Amino acid sequence: MSDNAKSIKHVASPLARQTLLDGELTRPVAGGRPIRLLPWLQVVKIGGRSIMDRGADAVLPLVEEIRKLLPEHRLLILTGAGIRARHLYGVGLDLGLPVGSLAPLAASEAGQNGHILGALLAPEGVSYVERPTIANQLAIHLQAARAVVGSAFPPYHHHEFPASRIPTHRADVGAFLLADALGAAGLTIVEDVDGVYTADPKGPDGEKAQLLSETSAAELAKFQGTLPFDPALIEVMATARHISHVQIVNGLTPGRLTAALRGEHVGTIVRTGAPSA
Ligand SMILES: Nc1ncnc2c1ncn2[C@@H]1O[C@H](COP(=O)(O)OP(=O)(O)O)[C@@H](O)[C@H]1O
Ligand SMILES: [Mg+2]
Repeated sequence: MSDNAKSIKHVASPLARQTLLDGELTRPVAGGRPIRLLPWLQVVKIGGRSIMDRGADAVLPLVEEIRKLLPEHRLLILTGAGIRARHLYGVGLDLGLPVGSLAPLAASEAGQNGHILGALLAPEGVSYVERPTIANQLAIHLQAARAVVGSAFPPYHHHEFPASRIPTHRADVGAFLLADALGAAGLTIVEDVDGVYTADPKGPDGEKAQLLSETSAAELAKFQGTLPFDPALIEVMATARHISHVQIVNGLTPGRLTAALRGEHVGTIVRTGAPSA
């Protein structure tokens, strides 16, 4: 064997002589902030249950608002799952399916909602694109159109953590992971409530519930009650690299999404663990 062939095995890398299991050793090389891939992108997550399931009354005014926003922003619009996923969970749980089988079923509903929204925005050049396209060709699609629509569900699918029979990583987690990985300018979560309250405003103690104007992932980690987003979002926010805050806004109130994308404080701002830009 020639000397040249032997030396090929020695790949020069600052991590070559280290175990990747020791954070102290990898931090000098891997601890820096990643680059922002799409720093001009605004990510908008549209609730499945809170918005899409309400049909025309909720969806059409929001579509009109998004249409008017297109000259101002380049958007990745991600849709969640709603009532059909609940039905799938019910049938699947009754049949004893594991969480890894339920997760892609629920994700398929998030995709259906995305197809609906994409169809309504088609006259503006907006299309629904599948995950591999978002992963690899989002930039080129956003050169051709001001916005694209995709599913907010993360592809844990059959690898979903078995901690719970209902998938832990759902649309809010997926939207956040994508926005942070892309180094997007912001993430806005569109719900049917004005933001995060001290208790479910539609629950039994709803009248006493107070709107939180601003909070943080660290504070919400201690919160005992229910939230209008996936609880796992709190853990993911804690280790964010780029998205320093998320705003939860009411998509049933015209103008809220527009104001949020313009940087106005019109819902609940949740600060994450990422430093402000
Ligand atoms: N602390 C809270 N603050 C605000 N809304 C809450 C809270 N706890 C529960 N909710 C409820 O969450 C609902 C949104 O449900 P969710 O499952 O997040 O919908 P979607 O699938 O559209 O995201 C709201 O309509 C509200 O009733
Ligand atoms: Mg929600």
